[in-house]
Order: sequence, then C-alpha cells, then structure tokens
Amino acid sequence: MQLTTFLIASLIHVIDGAKILGFFVSPNVKPDYYYPIFEELALRGHHVTLISPTLRDQSEIKNLHVEDISFVLEVGVNFTNIINEGSYTFTNTMNMFEFYRDTFKLLLKRDEVKTVLQQKFDVVIAEHVTPLTFIPSVLSGATTIGFSASSGPLHAHDSVSNPTHPVTTPSSILNMEGELSYQDRLNSGLYNIWYRLYYNLYELPKCDKIIKDYFGASGPYLGQTEKNVSLQIFYSNPILGLIRPNVANVVEISLANIKTSTLKDSAIKEFLDTSTHGIIYINLDFKDSKIEKRIVKLLCESLSHLPYHVLWNYNSRKNMNSFKFMVRPDLPQADILAHKNVKLFITDGDILSIEQSVINDVPLIGIPLYFDQKPYVNVIERKQIGKVIDAKNITEQMLKNTVVEVAECKKFKKNVQKVGFLLREEPAGLPKIIWWIEFIIRRKGATHIRSTAPNYYLYQYYFLDIIAFMLFTLGVLIFVIYFIINLFVKVGRMAFKLKLE
Ligand SMILES: *[C@@H]1O[C@H](CO)[C@@H](O)[C@H](O)[C@H]1NC(C)=O
Ligand SMILES: *[C@@H]1O[C@H](CO)[C@@H](O)[C@H](O)[C@H]1NC(C)=O
Ligand SMILES: *[C@@H]1O[C@H](CO)[C@@H](O)[C@H](O)[C@H]1NC(C)=O
Repeated sequence: MQLTTFLIASLIHVIDGAKILGFFVSPNVKPDYYYPIFEELALRGHHVTLISPTLRDQSEIKNLHVEDISFVLEVGVNFTNIINEGSYTFTNTMNMFEFYRDTFKLLLKRDEVKTVLQQKFDVVIAEHVTPLTFIPSVLSGATTIGFSASSGPLHAHDSVSNPTHPVTTPSSILNMEGELSYQDRLNSGLYNIWYRLYYNLYELPKCDKIIKDYFGASGPYLGQTEKNVSLQIFYSNPILGLIRPNVANVVEISLANIKTSTLKDSAIKEFLDTSTHGIIYINLDFKDSKIEKRIVKLLCESLSHLPYHVLWNYNSRKNMNSFKFMVRPDLPQADILAHKNVKLFITDGDILSIEQSVINDVPLIGIPLYFDQKPYVNVIERKQIGKVIDAKNITEQMLKNTVVEVAECKKFKKNVQKVGFLLREEPAGLPKIIWWIEFIIRRKGATHIRSTAPNYYLYQYYFLDIIAFMLFTLGVLIFVIYFIINLFVKVGRMAFKLKLE
C-alpha cells in the first residue's frame, strides 16, 4: 500500500513539472553553456521559459519557450569595444557593470520581457553577471539559482559566502595564475577590497533603483534577495581552472553540453573521413568587423599554403569553399572534435571549447579576441597543450609556423592526452547540474545546506574581535610584568640601601 502511494506520488511529481525561468543576458556567453541544460529540463517535463540573446531551433521541444532579446547582441558590439580599450581592470569592471545597467534600461522598456519577469516561477536560474538578473526573484520571492559561465565574479561568490582568498583564488579578471609575486598579491588584495566597496556601495544601490523605477517601490532590497540565493553554479573545474574551497551550495560543472552523436551531415562526414593530412578545425567568434577582416584574410592565406584541410565554423558572406576549405555556420563542434582526423583546433578560447578539445585529445591554438577570454586561453600555455597567439601581433609567417608546430610536435599531443585523461574522469556536467536544480526545487531552496557565514558581522567573520581581545590581554600581561619587575627593582634597591646603612 505504502509502496503504491509512493509510486503514485513520484509519478505525479514527474508529470507535475516545475515552472522554471532561465534569465541570460551576456552577449559574450555562447548558448552552448546553458541551452542543453534548459532543453534537458524541458524534456524532463518541467515548464521552462528562457530569456536569451541567442536563439536556437527548439521546435521539437514542447515545454521550452524562448523569449528573444537578441537586440542585446547589437548593443553588445560596443560593449566589447569599451572593454577592450584600456586594460585597466578597475575601469573594465566599471564599464561592464554600466553596460548591463544600460542594457536593462532598454530591456525593461519591452512589455513582453516585463510580463515574463512579473510571472511567478518555482525557480529562477539567473546569469549572475549583474544582480539585475535577480529581478524576477525580487518581484515574487522565488527560489533563485545563480549561474556563471566562468569561475564566477566576486559578488556571486559573496552571495553564498564562498571563500575568495586574494592569494589562492584571485579573481579571474585579473588574469593571474601560479604562485603570485608580491606585486600580484598586492594588486589582488586591493582589487578584492575595492570590488566589495564599489559593488555594495555603488553598483547594488544603482541596480536596486532601476528595479524600483520600473516596478514600483514594493519588494525587498536587491542586495537582500541576492544574499538569499539557494545555489551558485560555476562553470569551472579543478583540472583546467583554479582549485578552490567551496561551500555546500556551490557546484562547479564542466562538460555540460557534451552530448556527442554521430555526424548526421554526410558532406561534413565525407570531408573529415577523406582527409589524408588531417583537419584543422576553426571556430572564432568575431564581434568586431575590423579584427574579423584581418584575421580571416590571414587565416586563408597562411592555411592555403599548408597541406591540411580546413573545416571552419564561420558565417561567411562570400563563398570561401574549395577542395581544401569547408566553411559553414553552426557546425556540430562536439561531434567534429571527436573525429580522429582532427589535428588541431583554432579557438578564441572560451572554456567550453577548450574542454571539448581536451577531452578529445586535440591540441589547440588560442587567439583571444576579447579581454575576458585571456584568462581561459592562458590555460593552453600553462598546460602546454598548444600555443596562444596575440591577435594584435599576428602575421602570416607566424601563423603558419605555429600551426605546423602544434599540429606536428608530439609534445602537445602527449600533454593534451594527459590532461584529457584527467578531465574525462570528472563527472559529466549535464546529469550533475540537472540533479542539483531538481534538488533545489524539491527541497524548496534547500536552506539547510547554506553556510552560517552570513550570520556573523564582518568584524566577527574576520575575527577582529578575537584579535582585539588578544592584543588587550597581551597589553595587560606586559603591563603586569612591567609592574612586577619594577616592584622587584624598587624592593631590591631598598634592601641594598638598608644593608649599606
Ligand atoms: C555604438 O557606438 C557608436 C559610436 O560610439 C554609436 O554611434 C552607436 O549608436 C552605438 N551603438 C549602439 C547599439 O549602442
Ligand atoms: C609580438 O610578437 C613578438 C614575437 O613573436 C613577441 O615577442 C611579443 O611579445 C609580441 N607582442 C605582444 C604584445 O604579445
Ligand atoms: C528566500 O529563499 C527562500 C528559499 O528559496 C524562499 O522561499 C524565500 O521566499 C526567499 N525570500 C525572499 C525574501 O526572497
């Protein structure tokens, strides 16, 4: 009897899917990071709404509704320019926050977006590049999950009190790695302190005001909602990224989108199968047309003089195809990299592409095109699984030499096999993340796994009160010792005097 009740209850649970909202705004994040997650949730019977700047063909998936905000990509063209100009971390951070505030002002002018944000959801999965993606949670008090397509900005770690030690886990935007020098430690320490002040005293109040302006003054302070987040998901792993201590409601994932299948397109399959000297696969995501023109020209010229065949994921305006070049948009990257003839992958270096390459033992050439890609691409040099080329500095000869070196040198292949072996041992990302999301839904926010850190004041967390007590005790001790010595000296002198008399 009990068993039947249980079975019926679990059946009802499956049929009665949760209402889930995914809110993604970043123009730089490839949809591969998050689409597979929402597709899978929809296939499992949940009712999923996804606000995203990138559209993908979802026609077969019944429960998935995508709200198109692709205008963000147009605004985002200027974003990458602002960010690229100076390499000052402080200004880049401020520019980034400002960009998102401006984008949200445009976003909130759209009635269809506003309507979605005001609905009630069981859980909101918000890309935590800006606190403004928490709007639906502010409005309805919904359970919230933060998502970062990176090792996460400092404010995302702070929201769950995850440790961010400036020496062992410097912010990824600082592009520091290995053992830090004194200068690096100083910069990282200063950045950590400055970020907290800027974020909490300037950014959060500004964002909160935007919400109050567009939705009226009711609802809690944005900072309060942000601190009520149930789970933080970071797209990083200890093999390619930093090794960090995480609280119980932080989950690191990798390989979330690896759903390889056999290649369906027979033309691509034939191109891959018949190549005798190996394939060079290219996927570069250009946002700046000047850089695009220069790099495309260089790649065409240098690669046409080499024996390899080139498979290029690129939406070209003119026909670039030849017997040696196959150029097409939306190539199935995971399936291509799994093919045995692929010798080399030329990428702009988002972590997802690097992972896909590494688990298939394919060495890489990284050409970072935007400032936020540099930290990821550096892993290629650090692990010696390929080479990095500076986009500003690139020449035809250099490109040719690098391609031949990375494709032919055994060292890179051996290293990538070693790292790939370790990465394949990591639990697959997609089942892991789905388990966590459904766990948070079942446990209604899972408050029982939250850190106790927010219960303390800052002075308590950094045990300033304990240091103060210890200093006080030390002071008293020194005073007492001084007093006693003084006393002995006086008594001694007196005794000496008496003896003389
Ligand atoms: C981008 O910047 C240019 C020049 O500063 C400006 O004319 C254009 O309107 C901007 N585009 C967007 C979408 O903001
Ligand atoms: C440009 O290339 C040269 C030689 O390949 C290299 O030494 C130099 O560091 C590069 N410049 C930058 C800014 O990376
Ligand atoms: C805080 O989170 C819990 C669990 O997700 C949720 O039930 C509650 O409504 C949230 N409170 C506020 C003020 O957002």
